[in-house]
Amino acid sequence: MINSLRGMNDILSEDYERFTYFINTATHIAQKYGFHFIETPLLEETALFKRSVGESSDIVGKEMYQFIDKGENDVCLRPEGTAGVVRAFIQKKLDKAGGIHRFFYHGAMFRYERPQKGRLRQFHQFGVESFGVESVYEDATMIIMVSDILQAVGIGYRLQINSLGDTNCMPEYRNGLVNFIEIHEDKICEDCQRRKVTNPIRVLDCKNENCKIIYKEAPKLINNLCSSCQDDFDKLKQILDANKITYEIDTNLVRGLDYYSKTAFEFVSDNIGSQSAIAGGGRYDRLVEFLDGRPTPAVGFAMGIERLMELIVMPEIKREGYYLGAMDEEAVDLIVTLTHKKRKTAKVTCDYKAKNLKNHLKNADKINAQFCCVIGTDEMANGTIWVKDLENKTEYALSLEDF
Ligand code: HAM
Repeated sequence: MINSLRGMNDILSEDYERFTYFINTATHIAQKYGFHFIETPLLEETALFKRSVGESSDIVGKEMYQFIDKGENDVCLRPEGTAGVVRAFIQKKLDKAGGIHRFFYHGAMFRYERPQKGRLRQFHQFGVESFGVESVYEDATMIIMVSDILQAVGIGYRLQINSLGDTNCMPEYRNGLVNFIEIHEDKICEDCQRRKVTNPIRVLDCKNENCKIIYKEAPKLINNLCSSCQDDFDKLKQILDANKITYEIDTNLVRGLDYYSKTAFEFVSDNIGSQSAIAGGGRYDRLVEFLDGRPTPAVGFAMGIERLMELIVMPEIKREGYYLGAMDEEAVDLIVTLTHKKRKTAKVTCDYKAKNLKNHLKNADKINAQFCCVIGTDEMANGTIWVKDLENKTEYALSLEDF
């Protein structure tokens, strides 16, 4: 027997209902915020992710599904959605056109991680990216949108925010941090020794217990922001307060991707185990330029759909549509003809086998149909169909014409 690959799941039945319910709800909200759908390819040039997510990140360094295709191109399955959207934004010359462009997307992402609960190798994100707005109001809008989506599907959360500074304040802070790391170099883990060279601020997000204790004493970027970053961070807090969005400031929140500056945020849930991040995002004002576009401020987020699945509170399922069945072999043709006619205007399921009434009622109930409609010998003779409304518990016969 051939099974699906490790960390890659099928989505069907009740899970599929939840999955589509989430996407539909999030889509509706993103559209209300003025965002438009964008679909980008699953496969991109590897260089795109190296230059955006960053070579020092775990995602690019360890987790890419990377291969050489038949045309000798170095390609990989997208590990996240932002890089592809930015590439499309530049390729369509929207950076040159100027103005504001807001996109949302959903789809599969691939990371060769060690699978565990809430951590898959193929998982799905719902994300949005906004281009052309420098104002921190847009950062706050992103956070409020995530909060709206989570609220709409009945999920509670904790929000963590931080500022990662910009080209003014980050370099000086980075030097200070490197000095601190050098003092403690013999006590930190091997990964952090590597990070010191590739991307020092990533040490702050190290999961090693020993490192965590050491970095408690490390200089904090939040205490070293330039006035523009400090003003934006203060404004962000003020907007969140005004909108009654509670948050925690996590000075070690650096995010796992290299493209962020200024606002960084993560939504976590305490009800799903160790993989608790359910959404993450932030501002990435330099990325368009890094990918050879005209400098364009940008901000966005992505939510991990699989991590939300079991938390989603589904609305009460309403009975809908028709179930048609024959009680006599001779009525099957008629049932099938009526099914195809009725399907032009309603959801209709039919059974091709003749069965007794009890079995038909059971089947109709199982698929949540509102009407169970059957034809037996009597109905055949009278030109009628027997209908039971399973919602209102009424039953009656209708002429085939009226039906
Ligand atoms: P990210 O934090 O890497 O950000 O991923 C966003 C969300 O995807 C996470 O919070 C988590 O819920 C989910 N996720 C990540 N990895 C896995 C996995 N292996 N299995 C299941 N779920 C996972 C990004 O991807 C950025 N592109 C977000 C962004 C958009 N920033 C700006 N715009």
